[in-house]
Amino acid sequence: MTTAALEGKIALVTGAGRGIGRAIAQRLARDGAAVAVAYACDERAASETVEDIRKNGGRAFALRAQLEGHGGAARLWAAFDAVGKDHTPDGKLDIIVNNAGIGSGEALASLTEDGFDEVFAVNVRAPFFIVQQGLPRLRDGGRIINISSGAARLAMPEIIAYGATKGALDTFTLNLAKELGPRGITANSVAPGIIDTDLNAAWLRGNPQAQAHAASLAALGRIGQPQDVADIVAFLASDDARWVTGRVIDATGGAGL
Ligand SMILES: NC(=O)c1ccc[n+]([C@@H]2O[C@H](COP(=O)([O-])OP(=O)(O)OC[C@H]3O[C@@H](n4cnc5c(N)ncnc54)[C@H](OP(=O)(O)O)[C@@H]3O)[C@@H](O)[C@H]2O)c1
Repeated sequence: MTTAALEGKIALVTGAGRGIGRAIAQRLARDGAAVAVAYACDERAASETVEDIRKNGGRAFALRAQLEGHGGAARLWAAFDAVGKDHTPDGKLDIIVNNAGIGSGEALASLTEDGFDEVFAVNVRAPFFIVQQGLPRLRDGGRIINISSGAARLAMPEIIAYGATKGALDTFTLNLAKELGPRGITANSVAPGIIDTDLNAAWLRGNPQAQAHAASLAALGRIGQPQDVADIVAFLASDDARWVTGRVIDATGGAGL
């Protein structure tokens, strides 16, 4: 009998109530991990993620922590310690997936300082301090996976600040890999292209023209699905990826080739 790839592991996935984070949580649970499903506001979506995982024989628990203000990482870990103790009595974990993120649809000319601070707070500051404060809890041999974006590599002035947050996240990943290598911890980014989630709902859903354009940007000729990203994360989380660290794994289906 084969053992599931992540049997006995504990994973934390931020922004796991919906979208890409939900698919990551479902996939890691399917691979045997007990998954902390972190969310900001949408309790119903997070409960659905947890219920779906449990229905399929997996283990999961939801925890609420808003990451945008100061102290977001501390709130997250306090919630993890409180809610997770049945799953991880020693408070340790094996996999941290920094997935929660927000967009910023402003161009250079219109971006305000508040708008800049908001997107950097969720997309950069939160992952930075989640890792800093998570390191005493993360077991040696563990995994850090940061969800970046193709927008860090492809110039898209219409979302300039968002792209800059993901560039910062990738540089964070690079340095983490060097810093944590001696502990056998790998750190990698996964950089999706356009994925069909709520983040893109306003301009993509119900708009065939926008959908055709979005599909045409990928060499593989379609819009990405959350599972396309989750499967890459599952690989990075597994022992099979033990020799990959400090990398940005492209998950755009071949955009901008
Ligand atoms: N969709 C794409 O095309 C795409 C492309 C490249 C990269 N990405 C990246 O992939 C990640 C997930 O994106 P998605 O499309 O799945 O987004 P989504 O559908 O909008 O879901 C976002 C998730 O993040 C959580 N979140 C948002 N703000 C938060 C905050 N302040 N504190 C804590 N949690 C917060 C949300 O919690 P609630 O459910 O409680 O609101 C939700 O679970 C992001 O980092 C995004 O930048 C997405």
